[in-house]
Amino acid sequence: MTGRLSGKVALVTGAGAGIGQGCTLLFAEQGATVVGCDIDAAAAERTREEAADRGLSVEMLAPFDMTDPAHARRYADEAYERHGRIDVLVTAGAIAPHMATTAEMDFGAQGTPTIRGEVDVVFLPVRAAWRTWRPRAAARSSASPR
Ligand SMILES: NC(=O)c1ccc[n+]([C@@H]2O[C@H](COP(=O)([O-])OP(=O)(O)OC[C@H]3O[C@@H](n4cnc5c(N)ncnc54)[C@H](O)[C@@H]3O)[C@@H](O)[C@H]2O)c1
Repeated sequence: MTGRLSGKVALVTGAGAGIGQGCTLLFAEQGATVVGCDIDAAAAERTREEAADRGLSVEMLAPFDMTDPAHARRYADEAYERHGRIDVLVTAGAIAPHMATTAEMDFGAQGTPTIRGEVDVVFLPVRAAWRTWRPRAAARSSASPR
């Protein structure tokens, strides 16, 4: 471990599997405090156990659905309240897109769930985390010379 992320607080959505799980374990190995979330509580728990097997401690909030604005907000707020900062956000939580040509795609059965599960799922946690960054950014810009 090189500790490249020591002192950093990293949020990872979709931490229960795939890219999110990989980021969770790698970031923890590099010294970050990782607060992961997943819609699937059992998957989140598996990642926590995998980390523990490697001698790492990660925090998991689950089940949290990142297509739900209230869940996204609670996730960022909870992490911020626990640790006082958010330095990194990985939005890896997502569904597999429903694949079809545009002409053939059914709006309700394929289009809407794909937009929610691939676009809203990124937008909502980014917006929630951004709200915790804005006061710090404003303080920095008012402190710096014009
Ligand atoms: N795997 C790849 O090679 C690859 C390449 C490019 C892009 N992507 C994209 O990256 C994203 C993640 O891919 P993956 O392979 O890690 O997928 P995955 O299915 O292995 O993992 C996704 C995780 O997100 C969680 N999740 C799903 N919906 C959620 C929600 N609403 N809120 C919170 N968590 C939720 C799932 O429970 C799961 O644990 C997808 O959008 C995928 O299209 C993947």
